[in-house]
Amino acid sequence: MTILIKDIRIIDADQDFLGGVFIEDGKISRVFAGKFSMMHSFPPGQGADTIIDGKNKILMPGLFDPHVHFRDPGFTYKEDFETGSQAAISAGVTTVFDMPNTNPPVFSRENLEQKRQIVASKAHCNYGLFFGAGPNNLEEIKAAENVPGTKLYLNTTTGNLKMDDEKAWREIFKLGRKVVLHAEGDTFFRAVEIWQEENFPCELHLAHASLKSEIDLIRELKRNPKSSSFAKASSFVETTEDKSDDRHKKISVEVCPHHLFMTHKEREKYGAICCMKPELATQKDVDAMWAGVEDGTIDFFATDHAPHTLAEKKESDQPGKSPIYGIPGVETFLPLLFTEFVKRGYDLSKLAAMTSKIPRKIYHVQDLKGEIRAGFDADLVIIDPNFRGKISADNFFSKSKWTPFAGREILMKVEKTFINGKVVFDNGQIVGQEGREIFFVSLS
Ligand code: DOR
Ligand code: ZN
Repeated sequence: MTILIKDIRIIDADQDFLGGVFIEDGKISRVFAGKFSMMHSFPPGQGADTIIDGKNKILMPGLFDPHVHFRDPGFTYKEDFETGSQAAISAGVTTVFDMPNTNPPVFSRENLEQKRQIVASKAHCNYGLFFGAGPNNLEEIKAAENVPGTKLYLNTTTGNLKMDDEKAWREIFKLGRKVVLHAEGDTFFRAVEIWQEENFPCELHLAHASLKSEIDLIRELKRNPKSSSFAKASSFVETTEDKSDDRHKKISVEVCPHHLFMTHKEREKYGAICCMKPELATQKDVDAMWAGVEDGTIDFFATDHAPHTLAEKKESDQPGKSPIYGIPGVETFLPLLFTEFVKRGYDLSKLAAMTSKIPRKIYHVQDLKGEIRAGFDADLVIIDPNFRGKISADNFFSKSKWTPFAGREILMKVEKTFINGKVVFDNGQIVGQEGREIFFVSLS
């Protein structure tokens, strides 16, 4: 089965041109520039079974959303892996990494295997499953296989996963596996201090940055010490083996659309549906997020898709009730970012990089995904950039049919999504089921 997508604007991290792609056996088999002419381009015996005309459309790599909560198992009244992953593909997201604050939380290999069993038949997209740092589960973290990283909660959020004990942080940092921090301001600064001072070998990733101070610190940490004037001066002093050389490459950060498009003012105006962790910050912080996107301090985007029922959200804002954190995000991810990139005149290749090539690299994904090149998996999205409309939750596939972004103007629509070479979403309909657990290079 060969599919040809022709006469389309092809955009990925490294290219933006008019051309076409052939898809065969789940992979991109050929990419060519220029308009396709039936007369010339089929080598004998190599026709296409399906030809898709991409005139006035854009072809991009399917997006990674490296931070979702699909709530399965345990909270499936909010979302399950089927509805969450259907929501993903309806919006061009073809790979997700799911967080461990499910019930039971993913604190052991047994929990992880159980979750693998549950989600395998429900998944409509490719996925990775995070491991959680919990009480006394160091041995389990050490032995867990094929996970994107260990999620370490240093602040309160949905579920009871907060870890206050700095000794436990150290033990986790020592393992040399990738650590993804839910940290906010002070807890992040403290974690970085420990990581730096004690020269821990792990890669550190800050989930959902929301504060200017966080971005400022990360910008500083990312500066190559070899190129700074201080390092030049001090390099005259021959030290023993310096293992800290590439530490600036071991820190990364993501930002979510809600921290790019809203401030505490929305929280005040719209109430509980704008309650999330970290909470919405100030305009100064939002500006710092965009500055971080512009200068490359922020590595990639993620949604923190955190569905809840509207009823429980609303109730949580009543006096005496505890807050319920989070908003659904996977279906507004690409529309919001694409629209803003167009409005700001940013390069769409950068959007592709920050939603596919870069998260793939940072998470050491083995599978060839996230670029439009021969040999890569055909996880792709066709976008209509001439569509004009508004965000509405009515047609969400998520169980959470609400969003604080309702009514926002959008300058695109997802037309088709391909996973592993199959069309799985087509003009508003789920038309196929593909998706499997992806592979990660082991760091320790
Ligand atoms: O607002 C949030 N909700 N932030 C998180 O980090 C977790 C999430 C959830 O699980 O509900
Ligand atoms: Zn989260």
